[in-house]
Amino acid sequence: MTESILPLLGVALCATALLQLLLWSGQSFTQWSHTKKQFEISREALRKQIEAVTVDRTEAIDEFGKWNGYREFVVDELVRETKLSATVYLKPGDRKSIVSFRPGQHMTFKFDIPGQSKPLVRCYSLSAGPGDDRYRITVKTMRKSNPEAAPGRVSTFVNQSLMVGDRVQVKAPTGHFFLDEGSTAPAVLLAGGIGITPMVSMIDHIVRTKSERKVILVYGSRNSEDHTFKNYLKDVSERIPNIFVINVYSEPLAQDQEGVDFHVPGLITIELLKQLLPNNHCQFYLCGPSPFMEAMNTSLIEWQVPDSRIFSEAFGPASVKRTKTTSDDDAATPSAQVQFTSMQESICWDHQCESLLELAEANGIVIDSGCRAGSCGTCQTPLLRGQVKYPSGMQVDCDPGQCFTCIAQPDGDVELDV
Ligand SMILES: Cc1cc2nc3c(=O)[nH]c(=O)nc-3n(C[C@H](O)[C@H](O)[C@H](O)COP(=O)(O)OP(=O)(O)OC[C@H]3O[C@@H](n4cnc5c(N)ncnc54)[C@H](O)[C@@H]3O)c2cc1C
Ligand code: FES
Repeated sequence: MTESILPLLGVALCATALLQLLLWSGQSFTQWSHTKKQFEISREALRKQIEAVTVDRTEAIDEFGKWNGYREFVVDELVRETKLSATVYLKPGDRKSIVSFRPGQHMTFKFDIPGQSKPLVRCYSLSAGPGDDRYRITVKTMRKSNPEAAPGRVSTFVNQSLMVGDRVQVKAPTGHFFLDEGSTAPAVLLAGGIGITPMVSMIDHIVRTKSERKVILVYGSRNSEDHTFKNYLKDVSERIPNIFVINVYSEPLAQDQEGVDFHVPGLITIELLKQLLPNNHCQFYLCGPSPFMEAMNTSLIEWQVPDSRIFSEAFGPASVKRTKTTSDDDAATPSAQVQFTSMQESICWDHQCESLLELAEANGIVIDSGCRAGSCGTCQTPLLRGQVKYPSGMQVDCDPGQCFTCIAQPDGDVELDV
């Protein structure tokens, strides 16, 4: 940027100097027109410089609104969904177009939060279908299991401090969790808590495209206070004959009425699915807390649902922790030697650690991280030697010769450049 502005400033100063010269010197008309021509040439050069700068910026965001790296977005509107969750509408700060996405995908955000020593990177799923000129996300304040501990930093900031007009840095939509639009099989969406966001994007897409595909959403919330998108989902399920919504409350409040606010008390179970569905010839989409994801995944496999028809999204490290790794040969893992280039000695892989990132942190090595779920790429680190393995079924968008340390475990001896 500095490089492109310097010649521009040079031309601007040169043009100003010529104009001053003209005003001070009382020249003849011929001299004046000669100087004027020079001034115009300089002005033309200045205009070209300005255009060149504009072209540079246009290239960074192509004609379809695609971009690389982070782009500045402005908070356009904020809507409170529940006590703990808020929806944020975002418009590009440069007012150019935005790129489309597939229903269910997410975006990576960088938030500058007062009091934090560095920007915090987090992923949020898009909570509307594609087709608008702005993006929509919905963020729930993350409360930790220990009630004494402070709630999540970014989710609290978004819910309590973010204002219309604020600016955030955002990467383009991405991710492997999205509605398979090539299929006509009924889509069974199994959502727990804030895991509803990608499902709402899928449902919104079905509504907007007037698709006749059957969609069955089974949505587990604690109770009506925690029931995000309650009115929207009620409305679409009443209006659109191929969309069915079954609300399951684990802790209904005294005022929550079965048959009105919710359909089933308790938890989402495979028995419930077997009651609701005529057979298992469906596609299953899972997003929610880790125990729910783990239980549903196991039950669906036991119900003979092929792996190829189960799609899931982990929202955080805990969800990843419980899934199997790609290698069944876990017995070999504890003996693996891990060499970090900043350490003189190699370390024996500690199977109490869930990932190479955790092992690095346990040994005082700092690797930048964001989502800690294999989605944002912040923890990508060069793998100088050896192989790593990832949780099964996870597609990892890592550059060649690198690894996502937040979800990688060593598959034999490894060396990492950190
Ligand atoms: C692909 C993807 C999509 C997501 N979409 C949404 C969404 O639509 N809406 C939404 O509200 N959130 C979503 N999340 C979760 C979100 O990115 C953050 O993890 C969440 O908001 C908590 O961040 P925080 O800064 O508030 O908490 P932090 O301050 O980071 O919380 C601190 C502690 O909680 C742990 N932690 C962080 N996140 C989780 C988690 N999800 N589960 C268990 N432990 C965790 C951390 O390891 C840390 O120990 C998504 C995550 C991913 C990876
Ligand atoms: S921290 Fe996001 S991919 Fe590892």
